[in-house]
Parts: sequence; C-alpha cells; structure tokens
Amino acid sequence: MVTIEHRSAKVTLTDQVYEPAEDSYLLADTALDLTKDGMKVLEIGTGTGFVSAVLKANRNIYLIATEISPIAAKCAKSNGIDVIRTDMFAGLKEEKQYDAIIFNPPYLPTAEDEKVPGWLNYAFDGGVDGRKDVEPFMQQVSNYLKPHGFILMLISSLTGIEKVIEEMSKYSFEAQVIASEKCSFEKLVVIKAHYSY
Ligand SMILES: C[S@@+](CC[C@H](N)C(=O)[O-])C[C@H]1O[C@@H](n2cnc3c(N)ncnc32)[C@H](O)[C@@H]1O
Repeated sequence: MVTIEHRSAKVTLTDQVYEPAEDSYLLADTALDLTKDGMKVLEIGTGTGFVSAVLKANRNIYLIATEISPIAAKCAKSNGIDVIRTDMFAGLKEEKQYDAIIFNPPYLPTAEDEKVPGWLNYAFDGGVDGRKDVEPFMQQVSNYLKPHGFILMLISSLTGIEKVIEEMSKYSFEAQVIASEKCSFEKLVVIKAHYSY
C-alpha cells in the first residue's frame, strides 16, 4: 500500500480511489491558509481523505466529510476522517453550521466513451461540460453554510472558470479565483465564494 505525506498529514491509498494529485494539493494548501482553529469545516467528496487530513493535522477544527463512493469512504475512514457515505449533502442537518465548505468535484468534461468503470468514474466524470455537479452543489450549499462562511471549490480551465463563477452568482454568491497552478494541459484554480450582501 502506498502512503503519502504532506504538511504533517499521512494518507494511505487504496485501489479504485482518486489518488491525490496537483488539484488535491492546491486545494489542501489553499484551505489550510484560510482555516483557523475552532472552525467547523465540511468537505464534500473527500476521496482518500487527503484534503481533510491536511486540515486536521494542522488545525484544531471540527471536520466532517461526505463521499459517494463506498470504497473511497472506507479509505477516508481508515485515514482517520469522520466521513458519511452519501450523495453530496444528503443526510446532513440543514443547520447553516459550517464556516467553510470545500469541494474538489469531478470537473473534467467527459463523453460517454471516456467514462471509467466502477465507482472511480465519480472522481472524474464532470458530465459533457465538466460542470455537472456545480449546480446541485450550489442549490444546496446555503442550507449548510454559516452566513459569514465561505466555499472553496477546485476546478480546471477545462471546466469553464467564468461559467462556474456565473453559476455561483445565480445563487447570490460572490466568487473569485484565489489560487491557481498551470498543469500540462489545463490551469487548476481554487474559487472562493461567499454570500453577496
Ligand atoms: C476529484 S475527486 C477529489 C477527491 C479528494 N477530495 C481530493 O481532492 O483528492 C472527487 C471526489 O468526489 C466524490 N464524489 C463525486 N460525486 C459525489 C457526490 N455527489 N457526493 C459525494 N461525493 C462525490 C468522488 O467519488 C471523488 O472521491
């Protein structure tokens, strides 16, 4: 089994679970910069639990995560993450209790013949435009986010950065790119969004 270490966090990988890559590291480092002790943080789609593990290793926070894949949920649990196996927010209390909600969604535009078999497809398949999960996430997120909380979402230039920001504004969120990194065929960005008052 492979174990990776980053900023005092240790995560062991298992088969059929998204292996933390540049996107995971960019989101983890950005989230670490923006979180403070005492916060309540929710991560949607935790995969191995890598991003959550980095936060937990460095901050005294309350953190809970969700994950749709039972294989990934089991992996995250074995890495010490308090994870609920569910579809996005389903089953969580709608109490506007989180200071930060973090999501590295499947963001790649994916045609029918590009899908991968099994649960791992949920890690990559962003639908035809790469934004399949953005709207359902935005539709629900305000039921869970505190009035002065923020969202961090990792996406790629292939997802359509302006389109995602536009989608967020439809739900009364003000959003901007706060971190980016050029990879071989795409630019990865972290979008930070908060309610526009
Ligand atoms: C790109 S991977 C990111 C994994 C991890 N957060 C990271 O940064 O390394 C996306 C993850 O979201 C999960 N996922 C996709 N759709 C989901 C949904 N509707 N609800 C919960 N998790 C979901 C996938 O199974 C996958 O583990």
